[in-house]
Amino acid sequence: MEIIKTVSQLRKFLEDKKDIGCVPTMGNIHDGHLSLVSLAKTKAATVVTTIFINRLQFNQSDDFDRYPRTMEEDFKRLESIGNNVVFCPNELEIYPEGQKYFIDPPRIAKKLEGRFRPGHFRGVCTVVMKLFNVVQPRIAVFGKKDYQQLAIIKGLVEQFSLPITIVSAETVRAKSGLALSSRNRHLSIEELKEAPRLRQAMKNISSAIEAGDRNFVAMEYAAGELLARHGWKVDYVVVRTQAGLHKPTDGDNELVILGAASLGSTRLIDDLEVIGPKSS
Ligand code: PAF
Repeated sequence: MEIIKTVSQLRKFLEDKKDIGCVPTMGNIHDGHLSLVSLAKTKAATVVTTIFINRLQFNQSDDFDRYPRTMEEDFKRLESIGNNVVFCPNELEIYPEGQKYFIDPPRIAKKLEGRFRPGHFRGVCTVVMKLFNVVQPRIAVFGKKDYQQLAIIKGLVEQFSLPITIVSAETVRAKSGLALSSRNRHLSIEELKEAPRLRQAMKNISSAIEAGDRNFVAMEYAAGELLARHGWKVDYVVVRTQAGLHKPTDGDNELVILGAASLGSTRLIDDLEVIGPKSS
């Protein structure tokens, strides 16, 4: 596996490669990331996994500071599944003089995560555009775990006519149902036991939707209450359309439940796609 730290070295290495897949990450590689890389390997001849903790997408500097940095372990894990290239630049390589040009994403980026983390998707889009320009992949894989991010990146690629196919990957979960995330390592043993309740609250909603219930506000409220009763600080648990993440109206039945809530100082997000019965 090649480990490359500069843009010029990466460009040189990729010069004669035609069929490149890209998996952008911020490191602390877990089985969720490995599943993205494995999926990329089935779709492209050379897979470049990027590891870059992007300061621009953190609105609280301590969140940036406490983001786990586990580079050596990350290399081992990626190598063990046959990843071809790791691009792991330092901050000066990506932002040599501070970033002055930004991608300003549209309204979809201002709600949900965007509301609670202002500027987050501006930072994500800016770095992803930069990584795409450097790697020039034919395909790129993003996880459904960051559902809103995936939707925004799809929009970015489409609106800037980038010749890249965005492939969505299913979320990898622990046996308890908890979505794998780099943040899980901040949970105490007690919090780890409690954490699957976020998924459970979403499952309650999806079961109701599948049974034909359309009172989304009541379901969202009940989910929030359930979590709050068990000590969560809930940012949102909502039902939205899969396309565009709008509030569903009559006839919308391809839905997704999106949630974000904190246990102690650890903020978790998750989502669950659900298809409601077609209205007659
Ligand atoms: O999902 C992530 O890890 C990050 O938001 C990404 C896409 C690597 C951009 O920094």
